[in-house]
Amino acid sequence: MCGIIGYVGFRNAREILLEGLKRLDYRGYDSAGIGLISDKLIVYKEVGEIEKLEKQVPAINTTAGIGHTRWATHGGVTKANAHPHTDCKKKIAVVHNGIIENFKELREELINRGHKFTSDTDTEVVAHLVEEAYDGCLEKAVSSAIKKLKGSYALAFVSKDEPDKIVAARKESPLVIGVGDNEYFVASDIPAFLKYTNRVIYIEDGEKCILSRKGVKIFDENDKEIEKDINVVDWSIEEAEKAGFSHYMLKEIYEQPRSIADSFRGRIYEKEPHVTLNVDVEVPESITIVACGTSFYAGLAGKYMFEEIADIPTKTELSSEYRYLGRKDETGLIIAISQSGETADTLAAVRGAKKYGCKVLAITNVVGSSLTRIADYTILTRCGPEIGVAATKTFTAQLLMLLMLALDMGLKKGTIEDARVEEYITHIKKLPSYIQYVLNRNEEIKRIAEEIKDKETVFFIGRGINYPLALEGALKLKEISYIHAEGFAAGELKHGPFALLTEETPVVAVVARDKTYEKMLANIREVKARNSPVVAIADEKDMDVESYVDEVIRYPVTPPVISCIPIAVVLQLLAYHAANLRGCPIDKPRNLAKSVTVE
Ligand code: M6R
Repeated sequence: MCGIIGYVGFRNAREILLEGLKRLDYRGYDSAGIGLISDKLIVYKEVGEIEKLEKQVPAINTTAGIGHTRWATHGGVTKANAHPHTDCKKKIAVVHNGIIENFKELREELINRGHKFTSDTDTEVVAHLVEEAYDGCLEKAVSSAIKKLKGSYALAFVSKDEPDKIVAARKESPLVIGVGDNEYFVASDIPAFLKYTNRVIYIEDGEKCILSRKGVKIFDENDKEIEKDINVVDWSIEEAEKAGFSHYMLKEIYEQPRSIADSFRGRIYEKEPHVTLNVDVEVPESITIVACGTSFYAGLAGKYMFEEIADIPTKTELSSEYRYLGRKDETGLIIAISQSGETADTLAAVRGAKKYGCKVLAITNVVGSSLTRIADYTILTRCGPEIGVAATKTFTAQLLMLLMLALDMGLKKGTIEDARVEEYITHIKKLPSYIQYVLNRNEEIKRIAEEIKDKETVFFIGRGINYPLALEGALKLKEISYIHAEGFAAGELKHGPFALLTEETPVVAVVARDKTYEKMLANIREVKARNSPVVAIADEKDMDVESYVDEVIRYPVTPPVISCIPIAVVLQLLAYHAANLRGCPIDKPRNLAKSVTVE
């Protein structure tokens, strides 16, 4: 997730772009750059926060330009990889948010035709494609270039030869136009320009637009000019940064159809090789996963995936305990999962493992984080920054990365048939719609949250791969609502926790119609025998469950491993609404930090 901005008007573009980028830095902030245009094109880039860029850009007075704040997905955090990217002649500049899936092929073709590349990014191919198609009309060249792109993009271009014009295009990445008086803005999000105008036009997939001082023209995917409504937003800048949601956590929950698509984009195929995670890791004899908190629960689910799909013995250990555990197996692979890549306990566990000669694969959301620098291999979850302290979109992406890695290893090891992998791939592609199915049940989940919001204790139970989901559901609820919550393997209740059950203790049961189903129903009956209210999270076709429980929240029918992801979203919404109804400070719960950098 990166942020883009473009401005054409009468004000100083340097100021507008830098200010807009600061407002967009919640979308990423590992590097930033601007391209100012007058009789020449001048590009400035800097690694680090926008303020560093600001110090470097002299006080030039131009009235048009584009800018970018980056969250790296292709290519490390370097000045060369920062946007804008330019063509060989440095006449055309582009900023991009999204992922160009076929950039490797395009780059090779362009190099063969003599183009010189200066970065490792997927974006740079776009500048060179536009250069090839350019004959004095930027919009025509952009139209022709984007036809060659596979993937997602919000793009904004300027050309030295047409200094009064910005051309922008969108496919599956957000893009919005700000309409001022004799000035126009284009950006990933409204806060970038809200100080200057609250009149906006939302650009849809396949649409392109041309901004000049005279106005905005919008075109559909067949290059036919179209009329679009101007909407007036009455948000404050703070509200706009949360896209109108009351909390970052809720915004991030709702981002998941998009974030999960970004996580698998360009990495899965119906046909062989099926999965390409671009890590050259050999299939190990065994795996040890180390992680903390929510990432640890993703790791627990990963154990089920690696053992079932790839038949690789897997242990999942808390990073903070790993060092005290006996034997370290240097023939095994260590997988360290960390959203931030900065969690001190996980870094210590990884350093310890490396001393024993283990290879380490990191799964993280933050390129260039300490974890990526220590690890031998890295898989990025590509969610964009997560601001709410409670992990949401990064958890579902971690689950997906573990599943894709297990499929890859299973294929290499021959423990899973091609047809089954194809089935998984089909379902992975549908994940955005599976998540949307749950988001559409938001009001129903809110109603059920009303029922638990005043309880002292809530239990979460699950079996098999849904046991870690129960643990995560409990963690989510306790950390943001301050309700005491515990997660249990459903079979364990009778070994002690039953003593705590009363009719005032709701039990949230994650039910899957897999090999655990009958046993799970039996556990629910045992709970009901103690008169505790039961909320089942069950698939949409499971009608039997209704007769045993008080409430059912539905998720779509999918293979059990896939269903973890929509189930996680149910648990996130349940925790969110309970906390919100209790008036808790959801994005910054007491005593907690987003990144825990002390052991
Ligand atoms: O950045 P990490 O994934 O390493 O963080 C680990 C935990 O601190 C984190 O998952 C924490 O439990 C979550 N914020 C809970 O929602």
